[in-house]
Amino acid sequence: MENLKNIAVLASGNGSNFQAIVEAVKRGKIKAQLKLLVSDNPEAYCLQRAAKAKVKAFIADRRDFSAKGDFEEQIILKLKSEKIGLIVLAGFMRLLSAEFIRKYRGRILNIHPSLLPAFKGARAIKDAFDYGAKVSGVTVHFVDEETDHGPIILQEPLKIKTGWGLKELEKNIHSLEHKIYPRAISLFLKGRLRLEGRKVRILKP
Ligand code: GRF
Repeated sequence: MENLKNIAVLASGNGSNFQAIVEAVKRGKIKAQLKLLVSDNPEAYCLQRAAKAKVKAFIADRRDFSAKGDFEEQIILKLKSEKIGLIVLAGFMRLLSAEFIRKYRGRILNIHPSLLPAFKGARAIKDAFDYGAKVSGVTVHFVDEETDHGPIILQEPLKIKTGWGLKELEKNIHSLEHKIYPRAISLFLKGRLRLEGRKVRILKP
């Protein structure tokens, strides 16, 4: 049986959010088992982080599959064998199919480095910087069939200071992410998120 308290993180790169989740689990801030890291990139640094944290890792290299459906099927089989109930996307650079999302509806979270719906897409931090935004931030949301679109769980703004370069903005956005993602996951696990249409109500403890 799938268990909501069995978490899989899906990541393609550095994995600093994965690391923040590892630490939140260790400190008991997230009361769940971090069972699995799934990566589509065999070179990703997040895999080294998983090895160090003794979290099981699974690599599904998209290039090994001719069809996206087969690639996702491998991932789903692994999620099922680990009885994963909650999927946490943390810089996973593949778009999940509608079929995949339907299977885990309401149980896939994503973090995005802007205040959605502003600056959707893979280069949100740079896009906000280049646009000259004065405020940006971080969004955690449920995943639905549209990219960077699902119901918003938490958002945290960040004032972009005059004089900041892109590097400073990135650094500040990431440290905000590392605070907000564990908080959102914990609210989910405590059953404190109620979905009402596209609105997420946060229930009192
Ligand atoms: C984060 O900025 C996240 O918001 C975005 O991808 C990036 C992943 O960073 N979806 P990391 O691999 O967790 O360091």
